[in-house]
Amino acid sequence: MSETTREVRLVARPVGEPVPSDFELVEVPVGEPGSGEILVRNTWMSVDPYMRGRMNDVKSYVPPYRLGEPMEGGAVGEVVASNAANIPVGATVLHSRGWREVAIVPETSAQVVDTGLAPARTYLGALGMVGLTAYAGLVRIAPVEEGDVVFISGAAGAVGIIAGRVARHLGAAKVVGSAGGPVKTRRLVEEFGYDAAIDYRLGDIEGQLATAAPEGVDVYFDNVGGDHLRAALAAMNPDGRIALCGAVSAYNEAEPPPGPDNLFLAVGKRLTLRGFIVGYHRDLAPEYARLAAGWLADGSLRYSETVVDGIGNAVDAFLGMLRGANTGKMLVRLTDRE
Ligand SMILES: NC(=O)c1ccc[n+]([C@@H]2O[C@H](COP(=O)([O-])OP(=O)(O)OC[C@H]3O[C@@H](n4cnc5c(N)ncnc54)[C@H](OP(=O)(O)O)[C@@H]3O)[C@@H](O)[C@H]2O)c1
Repeated sequence: MSETTREVRLVARPVGEPVPSDFELVEVPVGEPGSGEILVRNTWMSVDPYMRGRMNDVKSYVPPYRLGEPMEGGAVGEVVASNAANIPVGATVLHSRGWREVAIVPETSAQVVDTGLAPARTYLGALGMVGLTAYAGLVRIAPVEEGDVVFISGAAGAVGIIAGRVARHLGAAKVVGSAGGPVKTRRLVEEFGYDAAIDYRLGDIEGQLATAAPEGVDVYFDNVGGDHLRAALAAMNPDGRIALCGAVSAYNEAEPPPGPDNLFLAVGKRLTLRGFIVGYHRDLAPEYARLAAGWLADGSLRYSETVVDGIGNAVDAFLGMLRGANTGKMLVRLTDRE
């Protein structure tokens, strides 16, 4: 009998916040890898905010998940069988067939990763898409210049922690972050190198930001949207730059909330607001990988992970991440080995 795997499927499209009954955990046969394919035993999988968007049946930059089929997302694992010329058994690969324990992956969609540099799971976070998002946002989309004041929302999350470090490396004079709750804001300053932190759950983001950065903000890295974007527009200095990376405060809203009512400030202050999707900036990946490897080696790229164990808890990890249960990258461990 062939091997089986457990996989998570989306079985109902959530309205508002997803609930466990929108998902199903099923056990299915794996099959054999065909020509040009590898069989991967996943060791870690990622849960990410963008997955919430894929649960809606709307046109976007990635297609929606199909009902009754396994969801997809970043994962790393060990190649246990190979019909591919360039990826041997035993290699550790990064690919997009997460949400399952064992996956058949076309060789062309798998990337062999260097576990000598960092553990495999790091390629789902600091050394992967997450890190590159922070880097592309602050190097290309809203470039940080020497002496800038930088404000980052969602600062205690996966992208936010790395963005704080990247801003510092690019010469920011002050880096201010916002996050939910006193534990996270304290960690931002004490562990993750932020100069000041705002607890948005206390309200008055605009007032808190004015206190933290009375000199104004030159670059805003927006992970949250909504009230945060409004407060940043009020705080921006002339010729400031805003990287629109995400709007997690709205992902569970059944109706999209209206935009900030002070957007017109962008005219008088001559601001640049630019959205981006990391996948369109892969050309920066080699440069980022080189820099990040150096920062990891000298200890200046501190990052954090929140780990949930087992495919059976993957949905909880995802729902928890959307509610802020994570500090740094939210990961699901699928094996008790690295
Ligand atoms: N453009 C791109 O290519 C790209 C790529 C990757 C990620 N992103 C975006 O970057 C952002 C961060 O992603 P991530 O992977 O690093 O996730 P993350 O920040 O690790 O996790 C999501 C965080 O969102 C925060 N949050 C939830 N509801 C909120 C609300 N109403 N107001 C403020 N914060 C709220 C929670 O932290 P608190 O406890 O602080 O509330 C939670 O930890 C997301 O918007 C994501 O879509 C964009």
